[in-house]
Amino acid sequence: MSTQTTTEASLTTKQSSFKLTIPYGDWRDILETQGYVVIKVAVDPQTALGNLPIRTKLNTHENYVVVHERFMWEARMEPRVMEAFAKICGTDELLVSFDSLNVMLLNLKPARKPWPYTDQTSRKRAMHCVQGIINLSHAGPEDGSLEVIPGSHALIEEFFDTQTKPNTWEWKDNRYFSEKKIERFEIRGLRPLKALEEPGDFILWDSRTIHWGGEPTKNSNTIRTVICATYAPGKMASKDVLAEKKRVFHANGATTHWPHDNIVPRDMQARFPDGTIDSRNCLEPLEKAEQTDRLLQLAGVKAY
Ligand SMILES: [Fe+2]
Repeated sequence: MSTQTTTEASLTTKQSSFKLTIPYGDWRDILETQGYVVIKVAVDPQTALGNLPIRTKLNTHENYVVVHERFMWEARMEPRVMEAFAKICGTDELLVSFDSLNVMLLNLKPARKPWPYTDQTSRKRAMHCVQGIINLSHAGPEDGSLEVIPGSHALIEEFFDTQTKPNTWEWKDNRYFSEKKIERFEIRGLRPLKALEEPGDFILWDSRTIHWGGEPTKNSNTIRTVICATYAPGKMASKDVLAEKKRVFHANGATTHWPHDNIVPRDMQARFPDGTIDSRNCLEPLEKAEQTDRLLQLAGVKAY
């Protein structure tokens, strides 16, 4: 393939016989003339994406025991994060949720339209839960971030009482709102707002506040990375809830955002859409958190 030649200046060089003889009428012509080329869809996108960890439709990661990785517990146990909830709850004897990591990669799929909802509905009155998101990335106007309708928490009971029939009320913790229903809030002067944050910021919202996960626009170049962490007073949890939290914790399982009630374990297995289990599935964290008394109290495993 190559020959050594001697130039006039007696410097040795190596000549290649490797040559693209254009025109081919395909991408090789671009490689030869431009010195670079991008071959579109060389690997089937589904195969390429298959190398990413399995995620939910909401861009959250709750499998592969990520929920109990050391970095997740370290974030949950950040003093100012816990302090914020201690101020809300009036106690530092808190429980924390075993909720997910959210990594919102760009351009994997078309941006999802807003899906406004609350995490508390008609049968639960007054504030039952405040939710938290620990931001690890910047979120500007073009980036993915939580979107909220500020003030909606104060009108939500009135909405249920005047716009819905009590015989339709269920013991459910989320309710979605159509565009038409959102108009009921807009005529009261409320408008959606995207939360803008820097790494290290902590977003808190009342579960009655209408919200959704805002997706990045085409102009975003930030991979949104956040940890969902919600706390509640330990004394609000029943014995059954504590027993279930203990069981889920020892199994390295994940739950929803609820820390003290309504403990719903997530599927431990990382499954592809057809139900088959990912061969990378694991049931132990790569790096386990040190199980201090404080961690075990927050997990509901050790009594306060
Ligand atoms: Fe939510």
